[in-house]
Amino acid sequence: MTIRRTAAGVEILDQTLLPHETRMVLLGDLAAAAEAIEAMRVRGAPLIGATAAYGLALGVAAEPSDSGLAEAHARLLATRPTAINLRWALDRMRARLLPLAPSARAAVAWALADEIAAEDVEINAAIGRHGLEIFRALLAQKPAGSTLNVLTHCNAGRLACVDWGTATSPIYQAFEAGMPIHVWVDETRPRNQGASLTAWELAERGVAHTVIPDNTGGHLMQHGLVDVVIVGTDRTTADGDVCNKIGTYLKALAAHDNGVPFYVALPSPTIDFTVSDGVAEIPIEERSAREVSHMSGRTADGRIETVEILPAGAKVANYGFDVTPARLVTGLVTERGVVAADRAALVAAFPEAAGAAGLTA
Ligand code: MRU
Repeated sequence: MTIRRTAAGVEILDQTLLPHETRMVLLGDLAAAAEAIEAMRVRGAPLIGATAAYGLALGVAAEPSDSGLAEAHARLLATRPTAINLRWALDRMRARLLPLAPSARAAVAWALADEIAAEDVEINAAIGRHGLEIFRALLAQKPAGSTLNVLTHCNAGRLACVDWGTATSPIYQAFEAGMPIHVWVDETRPRNQGASLTAWELAERGVAHTVIPDNTGGHLMQHGLVDVVIVGTDRTTADGDVCNKIGTYLKALAAHDNGVPFYVALPSPTIDFTVSDGVAEIPIEERSAREVSHMSGRTADGRIETVEILPAGAKVANYGFDVTPARLVTGLVTERGVVAADRAALVAAFPEAAGAAGLTA
């Protein structure tokens, strides 16, 4: 469970402690919710959206006036810039709450936040069913008795969502269906979401996996050891460009060069129909140099320690995300099926959201 409501507020699984400690922490107010997103105690586009929705409910419960609502919306929106689910959830909450009398807002805010969280689970389950069909077709092309080798980057797993995950949903459904499946897990420097989070949750479910340094994927693909790449996304444009954790683009290039299918698991709240050119238009989060210059881990006697790994004073660039152009994407696995990474297919699959942004088929 990554997030849940309690009598005191909202509890989240603090992902900064994983994989060494599993601890639920209370978010008792708006400030705590905003801090949890900023500090990446919760992370991953869908979970950022759900946490923001609950954060807004916490804010409105304390201060239900128009200005309280506006301040809560602005505070939460400023937490992280790239994942569009944040804005999607906050705008949806505000649109529902603003017409109401302030005294009626808190109850509706909690109910809508619950709805957003529940929808995430349904969406991801559907993504898993569609992705499973892709996996079945790919396995059918291999000799009988083969294992399907899947490569994934970052954590687009249940820890990035309310449940199931997006990229991991087909993996879990394949595993539950008895398919022989093995996952190559990119470690995903500098925050190691693959090594710390994806490996942890795959182990928890019993799915076979191997953690690889980020630069290994191309080599594996050249040697026929990857049947399919599937990743998540923080924002996908109307033209199908995919923004995801830094390093995704390099995996897509390697997949393209080696004829390996490259799929993106895409819940519809992650589509931003207001942008088309991902490289030019999506804001890319730049994070602290310390994430690159230092590493944390568990010592032999069980202590968590942080050590410096760069020469003192070394200059660092730490971009959180990159954009994979649509031409490198084999297909987008959405809750409404697998669609091409292009405007016509996305608008046809999601006419309501596209229409709201002024796009029609
Ligand atoms: O910086 P993070 O850990 O929030 O980045 C997460 C990712 O890039 C995920 O791949 C993406 O949010 C999709 S999660 C279903």
